[in-house]
Amino acid sequence: MQNDLHDLVRRAIRSVPDWPKPGVTFRDITPVLQDPRAFRVLIDLFVYRYMRQRLDLVAGIDARGFIVGSVLAYELNLGFVPVRKQGKLPSRTVSESYVLEYGNATVEMHADAVRTGQRVLLVDDLIATGGTMLAGIKLLQRLGANVVEAAAVIDLPELGGSRAIAATGTPLYTVCQFG
Ligand code: PRP
Ligand code: ADE
Repeated sequence: MQNDLHDLVRRAIRSVPDWPKPGVTFRDITPVLQDPRAFRVLIDLFVYRYMRQRLDLVAGIDARGFIVGSVLAYELNLGFVPVRKQGKLPSRTVSESYVLEYGNATVEMHADAVRTGQRVLLVDDLIATGGTMLAGIKLLQRLGANVVEAAAVIDLPELGGSRAIAATGTPLYTVCQFG
């Protein structure tokens, strides 16, 4: 039953070859969001996993992590905090830079977004190299959060991100994988 539900979500994900550049297959979650049944199954898989975890907050990563993370926070009756790309947050921030395939990127959070010891779930749509999720974990930990788990819809295990995240000791949950 559980596997059927994971499969239903996986089958709704669109794979777009050679986008945004030749050789990359883009795993697009917009058809999941567009299909009320797949969207509900996706959110409910997360809700069932986390409803007994005594979480304090859900954090979501800019931009696709906002969609899944904010709905999940609402369903779990928790607050939501955004992990944003650089230069978007208006108040005092903490930031963490990481390496992309070409160049660098920086994510930021408001310095008062989390209190020491709060139990936080970090959510994004996809793990590729893991750089984005790792930067989010570091930011939350610098603010004193206990990152209970990192969660994503999709893992691309061949890119090594899930392994790198597991090596940090933060548990990782993904709904489906693409090889
Ligand atoms: C994508 C995706 C993840 C990240 C994964 O976001 O939504 O956040 O890349 O890649 P990584 O594991 O190699 O860090 P992107 O930076 O393309 O931003 P977007 O959500 O605004 O499209
Ligand atoms: N972010 C990084 N790699 C990606 C991919 N293959 N599909 C969708 N989002 C991504």
